[in-house]
Order: sequence, then C-alpha cells, then structure tokens
Amino acid sequence: MRRASPVVRDPQSGMWMVFDYAGVQRTLSDWKAFSSERGRPRGENAESALSSSIISTDPPRHRQLRALVEQAFTPRQVRALAPRIGELVDELLAPVEGSGRMDFVLDLAYPLPVIVIAEILGIPASDRDRFKRWSDAVVTGDLSGSREMAAYFGRLIEERRHVPGEDLISGLIAAQVGGEHLNTQELLGFCILLLVAGNETTTNLLANTVLCWQGAPEAYERVVADRDLLPTTIEESLRFRSPVQSMFRVTAQDVELGGQLIPEGSPVLAWIGSANRDEAQFPDAARFDPARTPNRHLAFGHGVHFCLGAPLARLEASLALEALLERLPNLRVAPGTVLDPIPSQIVSGVKRLPV
Ligand code: HEM
Repeated sequence: MRRASPVVRDPQSGMWMVFDYAGVQRTLSDWKAFSSERGRPRGENAESALSSSIISTDPPRHRQLRALVEQAFTPRQVRALAPRIGELVDELLAPVEGSGRMDFVLDLAYPLPVIVIAEILGIPASDRDRFKRWSDAVVTGDLSGSREMAAYFGRLIEERRHVPGEDLISGLIAAQVGGEHLNTQELLGFCILLLVAGNETTTNLLANTVLCWQGAPEAYERVVADRDLLPTTIEESLRFRSPVQSMFRVTAQDVELGGQLIPEGSPVLAWIGSANRDEAQFPDAARFDPARTPNRHLAFGHGVHFCLGAPLARLEASLALEALLERLPNLRVAPGTVLDPIPSQIVSGVKRLPV
C-alpha cells in the first residue's frame, strides 16, 4: 500500500490517507497546504477550548501561542523535574518489587505521566483520580465529563490569577509576548491539551517499549547488558510502535501529493505509524533495532507542531525504563496474556500488560 498507493482517498469516509514517509512529513509540516485550524469546532465546551489551543491553530496565531507556552515549558524546566520523576518511579515500583509481578500499565505506565502532569499544573493530589475520566471524556466525546473538566480548570485558573504559585498554570497566566497574555479560553485549551496529549501517549510509549522487547528478546538482552543503549531503544520504540499513529489536517488549497490531486477543504489523515515503517527511509524497517542511528522517526510529528512535550516524554521513559532494567532485569510479559488493544485510529497501545 505504502509503495503502490502512498496517497489514497477512502471512498467510505471521504478521507484522504497518506502512508509514505515523504508524504506524511510534508502533510505534518506544510501548514500552508495542510491546515490544523480549518474545520475545528468553535464554542464554549472542552472540545472548543482544545480547538483554541496550539495544536489546532496555524501560523501566525500558532507562532504567538507557542512562544507563550514555551516560556512556561522549557527543556531546562523539564530537566529540573528529573529528581521528582525518579522519586515517583520508586514509589510506584516499591509495592511490586517483592512479588516481582505487576500490571505494567496500571501500576506504572498509566499513573506516572498523570501524576507528573498534575504536579506540573499544580493540581491538588486529591483531584488526580478524576483525571483519567476527564482525559477519556475528551477523547471519546463524552460531553458531561468534558464540561466538568472545563469547569474545574476554569476555577483553578481564576484561583491562580488571584494567588499565583510556582506551577505551570501560574506561569502561563504570567507569560506574555509583545504585551499579550493568553485569554481564559486559551489557558483552558492548553491545560486540557496537556492532559490529553501528555498522558495516554506517554503511557503507551512505556508499554509499547515492553512489547517491542517481548517481540525481540535479543534486543532486550542487549539493553540489559548495555544500558547506554536505552536512549536509542526509546527512539526505536517510538518508531516501531508509534504511540500516535495518525494526525488530522484539512487542505487549505488544492494540493498535489504522491501523484494525486487533493482538492481544497479535504480531510487528510497522515499515517505516522506507516511512515515510520517506510523502507525508503529506514533500512530493514520491520526489524526492531535498539541501536538504530540515524532514526529520524515522525512519532513526535514534524515542523511547527513538533511535540512540545517530547523532552518530558523522553525523560519519563528513560527514568522509568532504567529503574525497570535495574530492578526487574528478567522482565517478561506474563505467559498466556491476551493483549487488549486500545480501540482507536489515533493512539496505539494496550489497556493492561501483566508482566
Ligand atoms: C504535539 C506525539 C507526549 C504535548 C504532538 C504531535 C505529536 C505528538 C505527533 C504533533 C501533532 C500535530 O502535528 O498536529 C506525542 C507522543 C508523546 C507525546 C508520541 C509521548 C510519547 C507529550 C507530552 C506532552 C505533549 C508528555 C506535554 C506534557 C504536546 C503539545 C503538542 C504536541 C502541547 C502541540 C504542539 C503544537 O501544536 O505546537 N505530540 N506527544 N506531548 N504534544 Fe505531544
């Protein structure tokens, strides 16, 4: 499919599908032709708050918003989180160390990113459990859950306007470019975006890495023997089992791509998961190679929308997987496990993973 018909129109949905590396890279980065902004809902609910966030805007508005949020979310600030993330990994692994058994998703890969984002945003620990429900609510389009979350963040933003703290929400309220601040709807959109974009994706990166190891035991043995391979292993996991499989755009003009003419106003899905297996870009693409270099995968996107949370996701993955290699060096998926994939076209992962 990728080689023979890299760009096709699905007759049922009317959606254009892009499968090859060059096409996906262009779809994600050529914002003049492939808009992130067109066709997004506008209104007062959580979905529309999300649509006023950076992920759903095109330049020049995108550039301004991104400059504002980047001030509050710099790689340096993320690096400073390492000791706290290490502590959280220790806390989450402590109960399972005795038995040597755990559900990798429920015990570690799911709670870790939720707690990290909650702490970054300055959410009280007592409210963390509501996060999963809210995050699911936005993804599944459950309006009452989304409204509850929007109302919660709305209250929190007002509180921080009056009494600022050291947290990201206070940082976002204070940030400005050319004298301009984020308005309440944009603040809300960014909080919800972080919750949705940062949680399930990082959970799946962690669990998918264990699945990559399961499918390539010799790769796992190599990393156990040589921890220096962990960074390239994480990149290879992002390529091989990409947590975000596809991203959506709408054409802002007639576009020629992969020998096809896509008319203006067409919905387009860029298949990141497929691009990351493109032999034209990755020699021996179907093999999980923990030492693969170079590895220019598109798992975090490409161009102006390149994932803002990539340094955080990489940091969480390296600290969690390092601790795992250290403490549970004979990690195996429990025999007889039947994998239960997350039912989604966009994210790739499993609901549980007994190890
Ligand atoms: C954007 C993937 C973790 C925040 C993106 C995009 C991808 C992606 C593919 C590009 C979207 C597009 O082109 O439309 C991932 C993966 C992750 C991850 C695979 C984990 C393994 C995170 C985390 C955060 C985060 C931890 C924040 C805490 C964002 C934000 C954007 C974004 C804010 C929008 C950037 C923009 O539009 O300028 N992510 N992400 N992501 N991601 Fe991530």
